[in-house]
Amino acid sequence: MSERPVPEHVAIILDGNGRWANARGLHRTAGHAAGEESLFDVVNGAIEIGIRWLTVYVFSTENWKRSGLEVEFLMEFNESLLLRRRDELNDMGVEVRFIGDRDDGRVTDRLRGHIADTEALTAGNEVLHLLFAFNYGSRMEITDAVRSIASEVAAGSLDPDDVDESAIAARLYAPDAPDPDLVIRSSGEQRISNFLLWQSAYAEYLFPETLWPDFRTEHLRAAVDEYRGRDRRFGAAQDAVTGE
Ligand code: IPE
Ligand code: IPE
Ligand code: MG
Repeated sequence: MSERPVPEHVAIILDGNGRWANARGLHRTAGHAAGEESLFDVVNGAIEIGIRWLTVYVFSTENWKRSGLEVEFLMEFNESLLLRRRDELNDMGVEVRFIGDRDDGRVTDRLRGHIADTEALTAGNEVLHLLFAFNYGSRMEITDAVRSIASEVAAGSLDPDDVDESAIAARLYAPDAPDPDLVIRSSGEQRISNFLLWQSAYAEYLFPETLWPDFRTEHLRAAVDEYRGRDRRFGAAQDAVTGE
């Protein structure tokens, strides 16, 4: 069987930061800080490989359950990362977007401002579309889509007969993004943790053991290579004898 093309959209659940730090006798937050290098290495690698869309799960709607110290660190870390590195991302031709609930009262005005500034700065860039899933939960995203459909129906601007799959997809947070072809979760955990449930209905999944702070372009390349050898059928059958 011939190899399939490089995935157009790769989505990554960046996991294992806490374990990486704890294994070194460090606080969990040191693992988050170390993950910055992984992220930029992987962004560069994605561009080299020819991936056009990269979604990274950096904070889930469930991550508020973590200690105040860890949550505060993550908020400040995201803010400082945007401030320090947005020009570099822009120079690389990366469009940065945030998906998730940035308007949550627990997100600081400062961070919200940096998110908006970074999006405005990088808008229109096309080398790579980098989506940060931040304060993101797939059930919340689908719920928001359903709520907006309900209000459009109630207002008379949408006919219930027109509520189909594309109507729901059009109301997700990044409706122009293609569905992810490949979802990678680092650290060996094999679960989805409320990430892109609708969009990944037919994605290929990979669960490499590498902890996120150790993850580099070579791990992304290995995942893409494995993906390219997989047989995606989307429900259709292929005859092993005729190949049709
Ligand atoms: C992923 O690493 C980063 C975030 C969820 C923000 P974790 O912090 O979940 O690391 P582990 O899973 O505890 O090792
Ligand atoms: C998922 O990782 C969320 C992010 C990577 C941002 P978690 O580490 O929070 O997920 P669980 O708790 O192990 O399912
Ligand atoms: Mg984790």
